[in-house]
Amino acid sequence: MRAPLSVIVLAAGKGTRMRSDLPKVLHAVCGRPLLRWILHAVAELRPDHVVAVLGHGREQVRAELAKWKLPAGLPAVRSVVQEPQLGTAHAVRQAEPELPRDAGRILVVYGDTPMLTTETLRALLEAQPAGGCAFLSCAMEDPTGMGRVLRDERGAFRGVVEHKDATPEQRAVREINAGVYVFDTPRLFECLAAVRAENAQNEYYLTDVLGLFLARGYPIVPVPCLGGEREVQGVNSLRELAIAREELQERILTQHLANGVRITAPETAYIDADVEIGRGTLIHPCVVIQHDVKVGEGCAVGPFAHLRSGTTLGDGAEVGNFVEVNRTQMAAGAKAKHLTYLGDAIIGEKANIGAGTVTANYDGKSKFTTRIGARAFIGSGAIIVAPATVGEGAKLGANAALVHREIPAGEVWVGVPARPLAAKAGRASAQALAEEPKDGRHA
Ligand code: UD1
Ligand code: MG
Repeated sequence: MRAPLSVIVLAAGKGTRMRSDLPKVLHAVCGRPLLRWILHAVAELRPDHVVAVLGHGREQVRAELAKWKLPAGLPAVRSVVQEPQLGTAHAVRQAEPELPRDAGRILVVYGDTPMLTTETLRALLEAQPAGGCAFLSCAMEDPTGMGRVLRDERGAFRGVVEHKDATPEQRAVREINAGVYVFDTPRLFECLAAVRAENAQNEYYLTDVLGLFLARGYPIVPVPCLGGEREVQGVNSLRELAIAREELQERILTQHLANGVRITAPETAYIDADVEIGRGTLIHPCVVIQHDVKVGEGCAVGPFAHLRSGTTLGDGAEVGNFVEVNRTQMAAGAKAKHLTYLGDAIIGEKANIGAGTVTANYDGKSKFTTRIGARAFIGSGAIIVAPATVGEGAKLGANAALVHREIPAGEVWVGVPARPLAAKAGRASAQALAEEPKDGRHA
């Protein structure tokens, strides 16, 4: 049996430089809060236990944690409180009562490093010597503020010194401690108990545990980060959040392209994490797709389209210019090609939504559903005040306003407010409707 793997996520810090009331780890990058990014990265390691150390904004973080749909492979995330925040070693100690203490290993990561990959974590776990510690190190262009990795003349590891405690010579070192560690569990807790807050910041430094491992003859190795300095970059400000977004957006787009999604102008595409897009789908320039959207195969989206969370597009569906689709299901082959708002709508196969259609889904208090049946035809400029239903194959005339009504299957309704078209005149007008150029004809 494999030795148990526990993960401790340090996330108690204040994040003062974010200049925001939102707890730092709840700031989102590509639709995913920082804390979720690291939880996704560790999920693939199949840990047995995960404990988040919370402090500032803990109520809010806990409430969010409880709502997230986390990936399979991750056990329930428990949280402990660190109050006050007396340093990284003190933070790790708070997790001690929540974890098995006499066997296995403990991976320590921060809640604000969204770019850290599973591959790097796996390499770190593999490099851990039996009974010892491995930690990520990295050469940095500008290591200011970071803990420096000290080595002797033969290159052997001699300890980590914090920037504030370092001599000018030590500050000249560019190899830094990334703050990602795997420890033998019993030895970690043994050494943690010996850490003292005797330093420039009067904090309990987790890095002192590294020195204690060395002093006690427990094996310890720095492991260079595979992805370079970018990967271990923590997010401390909105500027750094924006930098992380660029990197993570690129990774997301690369993955979709590899899966056969045709993205015409990746530099203009804003596609969140947790979005599924089927093969052969064409994403035109300037498209925004939020998290928790599913797009089928062979669809077309954009240019200038916005698919919001909770939306699904069936195979071959089309969403064109200046169309916003929000919490809406469009079945296979449904089309909304121009200047449209679809919110809380359920749209059947091959329904055609004319230019300028608006579903009025909100009455100022609550949201209501619009149902549009398969092969229904909505004329240009129609307004549908929900709750409302357009039956299968039914037609709603251009400029009509359907207010809280249900059009039976196959009927034609027109006007403001919309009413059934009289049978006789109806034939002529229905003819006229049918002869209006249909968007699909040009596709
Ligand atoms: C720490 C390391 C430093 C390393 C750097 C990498 C120590 C003493 N120093 O620096 O060697 O180069 O990370 O980024 O460990 N946190 C808590 N509780 C606390 C303090 C921190 O939960 O009491 C959390 C923070 O929320 C953050 C992480 O720990 O996620 C790191 O804290 P931060 O203050 O950014 O790191 P440093 O201590 O400056
Ligand atoms: Mg600090």
